[in-house]
Parts: sequence; C-alpha cells; structure tokens
Amino acid sequence: MSTVLITGASRGLGLEFTKLYAARGDRVLACARTPDALARLEGDIHPHWLEVTDYEAVKALARKLDGEAIDILICNAGIGGERGSNAQDLGTLDPVLWRQIFEVNTLAPLMMAEAFAGHVARSRERKLIAITSILGSLASNNGGRYFYRASKTALNMEWSCLAHELGPRGIICVALHPGWVQTDMGGPAAPLSIDQSVPAMVRTIAGFKPSDNGRFIQYDGGELPW
Ligand SMILES: NC(=O)c1ccc[n+]([C@@H]2O[C@H](COP(=O)([O-])OP(=O)(O)OC[C@H]3O[C@@H](n4cnc5c(N)ncnc54)[C@H](OP(=O)(O)O)[C@@H]3O)[C@@H](O)[C@H]2O)c1
Repeated sequence: MSTVLITGASRGLGLEFTKLYAARGDRVLACARTPDALARLEGDIHPHWLEVTDYEAVKALARKLDGEAIDILICNAGIGGERGSNAQDLGTLDPVLWRQIFEVNTLAPLMMAEAFAGHVARSRERKLIAITSILGSLASNNGGRYFYRASKTALNMEWSCLAHELGPRGIICVALHPGWVQTDMGGPAAPLSIDQSVPAMVRTIAGFKPSDNGRFIQYDGGELPW
C-alpha cells in the first residue's frame, strides 16, 4: 500500500489518478478546489481543499500532514488558457493570462515540491512527479501557445533542478507527459482517452527506480527530448 497525493483531483487526469490508485488499495490524499464530490468515491480517499496557488494553504496542508510519509506526489493541477482564444497569439498577447498560467503551471508545483519534499523523503517509494507536456520541449517545438509551452518548459527546468538537489536524498523526480488526452483541456480531438493515458502512467510510475531521477518521459515510459 502506498500513500499518493494528487493535486487537481476534481476532474480529468487527476480524478482518474485518484480512482485508479484507490482501486489498487492505495491511500489517496486527493487535493481539489471542490473536494466534497471526492468523498463519495470508493476507496481510501482523503479529500483536501487545495487551491494550488494559495501558498499559505499549501504550507498549512503540509503542516497538517506533518509526520506522514507520501510515497508518490503528483503535481497534476494545470491550466492551458481558454480554448479558441487568441490571448496566446503574437499580436494579441494577454499578459494577465501569462501570469495566471505561470502561477498555476510553474510556480505552484515548485511550492508543492518545497512544502512536501520532507513527506516524500520519509516514504518507501520517494517519487515526486510533475505532470508536464511535450509542448514544453525546446527540441520538438513547432511554435504557438507561447504561455502554455513556456510554463511547461520552465516546469521541466524546475524538475531537473529538483532532481539534482533531491536525488541525493533518494527522491526520484520525473517530468511526465500524459500524451494528448481527451479531457476538458485536451479536447475531444485528442488521440488518447483518459483510460489509455492514466493506467499507463500509473504503471510507468510504479516502475520508477532511482536511475529514473531527472528524466523527461511520456505516459508509456518513452523518453522525450528536452
Ligand atoms: N489533456 C492533455 O492532453 C494534456 C496534455 C499534456 C499535459 N497535460 C497536463 O495534465 C494536467 C491535467 O490536465 P487535464 O487534461 O486533466 O486538465 P483538466 O481536465 O482541465 O483538469 C485540470 C485540473 O487542474 C485543476 N486546477 C486548475 N487550476 C487549479 C488551481 N489553481 N488550484 C487547484 N487546482 C487547479 C482543475 O481543478 P478545477 O476543477 O477546480 O478547475 C482540474 O482538476 C495539467 O497539468 C496539464 O497541463 C494535459
């Protein structure tokens, strides 16, 4: 049995992670802005209210869980910017949206890592996962979505830095791309269903060894170019 903390557990990939880990018999600390619905799910699920950009709330949750071991911490909460909007296009860039996207996708996961590194370090599995995107890859860039791409590139750099700093404490830090998936964010045209992506990520995470620290990979374990 593992203890798994997931942010953005209300819907999409985060909700499916919550259900799958609970179905495996794991203890799930399911963090969401609307946690009440999670209490009705089957299994050992502990819902916690968490707006990931409320850093006092992040620290308060870390204090509340003080002394607990968290085997797998999944920083999943993220935003892409409104679909169909031109707010991320050159000519109509919206700086307010840039700040929102970076706040949620880049700063918040690092604040989570800082607050919970001790909980992860005292666990058996010691896995610190950022749900990132291939759109953050510099090597495979084909342009567009300036804010979202840059937020995930910066997230990848943070996880690379964490791998250097926390790897010596036995923590396995991995930046994990879920594939392009049919969620509210991914949209209906995405090639992967939630049922194809999330079980594959759960299997991939289960197989992580210390030698995986510092990798950028996709849902099925395939290596991605930084
Ligand atoms: N779907 C894809 O194709 C795809 C591809 C690459 C990467 N990703 C990444 O995968 C992760 C999950 O995406 P998804 O497809 O499941 O998206 P989604 O269906 O839009 O769900 C996003 C989740 O993040 C939560 N969230 C957003 N802002 C938050 C905040 N400030 N505080 C707390 N929770 C917040 C949402 O909570 P509320 O319900 O409260 O809004 C929701 O649970 C994201 O990091 C995304 O960038 C997705």
